[in-house]
Amino acid sequence: MSRCLCPGSYDPVTNGHLDSLVRAAALYDEVVVGVLHNPAKQGRFPVEQRIDFLKQSLADDLPVRIEAYGGRLLVDIAQELDVHAIVKGLRGGTDFAYELPMALMNRHLTGVETVFLPGDPLFEHVSSSLVTEVATYGGDVTGLVPDVVRDALVARRQ
Ligand code: PNS
Repeated sequence: MSRCLCPGSYDPVTNGHLDSLVRAAALYDEVVVGVLHNPAKQGRFPVEQRIDFLKQSLADDLPVRIEAYGGRLLVDIAQELDVHAIVKGLRGGTDFAYELPMALMNRHLTGVETVFLPGDPLFEHVSSSLVTEVATYGGDVTGLVPDVVRDALVARRQ
């Protein structure tokens, strides 16, 4: 059985993230979504809520499971979960520049490979931080994030 790990903050999950997860699920038997929980950093949403957004947004028949992790190296989680690869979605060259040193470091540490999946260009401009900012100031983020996330962002500003 092939398994991959899709790590990230998912704070909150966007439709770009979902696009990558669906692509990963087409390549591997099981996708583990690793939600980074950093106790030292105040996130936009608590990790439990981020996981809840993911659960509500992923189709039931997708071979995906969600794990929170924090205070540990990603490679240690990857080994523990016995994954064949870490999978990251790329929006463009800026993402590649950010992701490449992490992929090289992770391979240096344990030999784990990182697979980069080009995302749908429809979501090239979509990031968790940008949609949060746009929604905070009243912009419409429908279609860029799952409806449950959009509603939570709207509720936060009221
Ligand atoms: O969505 P993000 O915030 O860009 O994801 C970054 C993440 C969570 C994948 C990365 O920061 C991570 O895995 N951190 C865990 C600690 C670790 O292994 N750091 C060394 C990375 S080479």
